[in-house]
Amino acid sequence: MVNYKDLGLVNTRAMFAKAVKGGYAIPAFNFNNMEQMQAIIMAAVETKSPVILQISKGARNYANQTLLRYMAEGAVAYAKELGCEHPEIVLHLDHGDSYELCKNCIEMGFSSVMIDGSALPYDENVALTKKVVDFAHQHDVTVEGELGVLAGVEDEVSAAESHYTKPEEVIDFVTKTGVDSLAISIGTSHGAYKFTPEQCTVDPKTGRLLPPPLAFDVLEAVEEKLPGFPIVLHGSSSVPQEDVDIINSNGGCLKAAVGIPEEQLRKASKSAVCKINIDSDSRLAMTAAIRKTLAEKPAEFDPRKYLGPARDRMKELYMHKIINVLGSNGKISH
Ligand code: G3H
Ligand code: 13P
Ligand code: ZN
Repeated sequence: MVNYKDLGLVNTRAMFAKAVKGGYAIPAFNFNNMEQMQAIIMAAVETKSPVILQISKGARNYANQTLLRYMAEGAVAYAKELGCEHPEIVLHLDHGDSYELCKNCIEMGFSSVMIDGSALPYDENVALTKKVVDFAHQHDVTVEGELGVLAGVEDEVSAAESHYTKPEEVIDFVTKTGVDSLAISIGTSHGAYKFTPEQCTVDPKTGRLLPPPLAFDVLEAVEEKLPGFPIVLHGSSSVPQEDVDIINSNGGCLKAAVGIPEEQLRKASKSAVCKINIDSDSRLAMTAAIRKTLAEKPAEFDPRKYLGPARDRMKELYMHKIINVLGSNGKISH
């Protein structure tokens, strides 16, 4: 059993309490490789922001869970080396789908896990989530549960249709399970195609697709039922059109990619939403930078020469999210 505290990691409890009180949200960035991890840590240190490093099923399959765990341990040392004396870094399991997986991650040093029982019947979701909470809390690991199903075509987390969270269920779920935070469904979804063109209107000035607003009424109803309780939003990439344009003008083909407008995420960050998950925007930033570099320098074959600019672009993106959208900059005091 590896205790995350011995690795210099923290759980989400104090971090979320501070964020809810302070009206900002903690960034939860997915990572699959060294460049993403470096960019996340550089951005968090430069902005003095707490940060959640999260590992999905896709990341585990791609990069190996053990290796990623050691990278997260390395992230703490790296943050210190960059000048942050007491970094606040959470290592989080994203979309855990079984008790065994959550237990295994806790035993190998994760400080936070998500058990995603959102596709299960309500009572089964409650039972599974409670089982994970009971084990996690013995080790002071925090747990995120989910109620309501996100729409989307993202691999590994697909769900056929969107079911918004039912505010009338949240008190019962939180009480029965003992979860530390709750992911809810209010219209966000995974991936770079969050809405069909038919669901959007067209901006007459730019010709861009404008998505429908998130269901803030559902969020407000949840907050009313659970005052001050930490709420999580998945599927919160904004799909920056500059990156989509760079990809498309350098050989790519992303048609009608559309995300959540940043002003809506800014509004959500000021509420009880205290964790915002972003993965697709990092993928787009990385791909845009790599395509651009390779198009401009066709003779280049040293990966460092295109992964370096990709890392720079991701760092810029993460800093922008932290400072201009989530507001978590300057929240590490030491
Ligand atoms: O939750 C969704 C994340 O974007 C992770 O997706 O399993 O393809 O890494 P992935
Ligand atoms: P995006 O696909 O919108 O980046 O969402 C990521 C996510 O929710 C990871 O759990
Ligand atoms: Zn997610």
